[in-house]
Amino acid sequence: MSHSDIASEREITARAVNSFAHTPDARLRFLLQKLVGHLHNFASEVELGEAEWFQAIQFLTATGQKCDDVVRQEFILLSDVLGLSMLVDAIEHRNGAEATESTVFGPFYISGMPDREYGENMALIPGNASLITGCVRDITGKPLAGATLDVWQTAENGQYSGQDVTQPHGNLRGRYHTDEHGRYAIRSVVPVSYPIPTDGPVGQLLDATGRHPWRPAHLHFMLDAPGHKRLVTHVFNDDDPYIDSDAVFGVKDSLRVVYQPRGASDPLASQFDIGTDFHLASFDFVLDTTA
Ligand code: BEZ
Ligand code: FE
Repeated sequence: MSHSDIASEREITARAVNSFAHTPDARLRFLLQKLVGHLHNFASEVELGEAEWFQAIQFLTATGQKCDDVVRQEFILLSDVLGLSMLVDAIEHRNGAEATESTVFGPFYISGMPDREYGENMALIPGNASLITGCVRDITGKPLAGATLDVWQTAENGQYSGQDVTQPHGNLRGRYHTDEHGRYAIRSVVPVSYPIPTDGPVGQLLDATGRHPWRPAHLHFMLDAPGHKRLVTHVFNDDDPYIDSDAVFGVKDSLRVVYQPRGASDPLASQFDIGTDFHLASFDFVLDTTA
């Protein structure tokens, strides 16, 4: 490449960056100038060809076309498998050292799910019974009574209710509340690992790059308490085969929990009317105060 080629490429980049110099909103100006600069540097560095550029345009077009208004958001899925969602999560929660760590929201949350009693079973189809209990506290250790835990998980077929329309409404979803001691108890089935949707461009990307689509088994939580920051996180099954290779990079060591086997004669089985052998997990949450 000649010196004049390099100079003219730099000139194109400089002109494109400068074209945003009069953006009235300072943050928008900063974001766009950085974006264009990095994008141009990337193209120059990898010597992006026209055919490759067009393939990228087609890939992004197909990503948009795969989205719908209700359940499918292929761009978020793309951000997830590129690790961008977890990077943004880390930036957003810088300096939040004392609170429970957050992780990806994921595309399968549904609002307005049933309120559930302390210890109520949210598995409307019987399965490998589980009980998860713990306490919600503030960063000083004070238990938070009346906190809401909105939870969701897949069925044993690896699909969420809503995504899998054959499951009853509200299956494996619900809004639990802490008691006067800040405690919660959720009856359910032991979460299983499942693949993220692979029938779109993101699936093709994973395929072309030899990556698997699996997420380690987890239970999703969204916690709210007055005067405290909302926490969106998961609790992961510690022994899952995909715990070290989550397709969306969501695992944090502090969010791993062991489901311990307990017999049907365990006192907790009668307290929570379980009636079979089950698995017990314990996990405490800490919520940050609102700034
Ligand atoms: C989930 O855990 O539900 C999820 C998260 C990111 C991408 C796909 C699914
Ligand atoms: Fe999930």
